[in-house]
Amino acid sequence: MYSLNDLQAIVEKSFGELQLPIEPRNLYEPISYTLSLGGKRVRPILCLMSANLFSDIVDKAVKPAIALEIFHNFTLIHDDIMDNADVRRGKPTVHKKWNPNVAILSGDAAIIVAYKYVAQTDPALLPEILKVFNATALEVCDGQQFDMEYEKLPVVTEDDYLRMIELKTSVLLAAAAKIGAILGGASLQDGERLYNFGRNLGLAFQLQDDLLDTYGDPKVFGKAIGGDIISNKKTFLMINALKLATQPSQVALQKILKNEAIAPEEKIASVKAIYDEVGVKEITEKKIDFYYKLALAEIAKISVREERKEAILSYAEKIMGRKS
Ligand code: IPE
Ligand code: IPE
Ligand code: MG
Ligand code: MG
Ligand code: MG
Repeated sequence: MYSLNDLQAIVEKSFGELQLPIEPRNLYEPISYTLSLGGKRVRPILCLMSANLFSDIVDKAVKPAIALEIFHNFTLIHDDIMDNADVRRGKPTVHKKWNPNVAILSGDAAIIVAYKYVAQTDPALLPEILKVFNATALEVCDGQQFDMEYEKLPVVTEDDYLRMIELKTSVLLAAAAKIGAILGGASLQDGERLYNFGRNLGLAFQLQDDLLDTYGDPKVFGKAIGGDIISNKKTFLMINALKLATQPSQVALQKILKNEAIAPEEKIASVKAIYDEVGVKEITEKKIDFYYKLALAEIAKISVREERKEAILSYAEKIMGRKS
C-alpha cells in the first residue's frame, strides 16, 4: 500500500514532468501558473487511493488522476471569473494577473490538456473511463450554471442547493474515486460504492467550503473571506439564514441582497451578524458531519480487508479537518 506522502510525490512528479508548449506564452503560462500553485490535489489523491484499495500497483491510474486535477484547475480558472474572485491559493487569480480573455482561453486549453491525459488511459478501459469523465465534466458545468442563476434568486430551497453542489463539486470527487476503483480492478458494485463515497464526501467538502468562505482564517484560506456574501451566493449558510432568522432579520437580509450600493465590508459584517444570530455555523457543521458519515458508510461496505481501507479513511478525515 502507498502512504499519502507516496501518492502526493507521484502526483507532484507527474506535474513536474508535464510539458506544455512555450508559445503563445499568455495561453500556456496561466495553466502552469495555476497548476504550480498546488492546492490540495484532493481529486488525484482520491483517485490513486481508490485504485490502491484494490491493487498494489497504481500506475494505471496516474494519467487519469492527473487529468482530473487539470480539469479541476480549468474549472477554478473560469470559476474565478464568474465569481469575480481576485485571490486563489494565496495568489492573484488568472483573470486578475492576466485578464479575463486570457483566463477564458487558457481555461479552455487546460480542458484539452486534461483530455490528452485521459486519452493515455489503458485502451481496454478507456471507453469506460471516458464515459464517467465526460458525464462528470458536463455535470460540473450544469452545477456552475445553477450556482450563477441562484445568485439572482431571492430564495433557493435546500434541495435545490444540494443538487447544485452535487453537480458543481461532488460529482468530480465521486468520479475520481470511481475512476480509481475501475483502474484498480474493483467490482462494479465496489465502483458504485466509491462513487457514492466521493459524492457524499464532496457534499461535505462543498458545505465546508461555504463555511470557510465566511468563517475561515484569511491567513490560511487562500481565498478572499466573504466572497460568497458579496456575490449573493445561495450557500447553505445563506439559505438557512433566510429560512431561520427572525422576521426582522429575514427582511434585513433580503434588503442587503438587493442593495447594490452597500460597501463590501459592511455587507459581509451585516450578513455575518445575522448568520451568528441564527447559529448557521453549527447548523452547517452538523450537515457536514451528516454527509461525512454517509461517505464513511460506503467505505464500510467495500469488499476488501479492513487494513486496506485505513489510508482512504484517514485521508477523508484529514480533508474534513482542512482550513484551506
Ligand atoms: C475548490 O476546490 C473548489 C471547490 C470545489 C470547493 P479545492 O478546495 O479542492 O481547491 P484546491 O485545488 O485545493 O485549491
Ligand atoms: C466551485 O465552487 C466549484 C467549481 C469550481 C466547479 P466555489 O465557487 O465555491 O469554489 P471556490 O470557493 O471559488 O474555490
Ligand atoms: Mg463558484
Ligand atoms: Mg468561486
Ligand atoms: Mg467557495
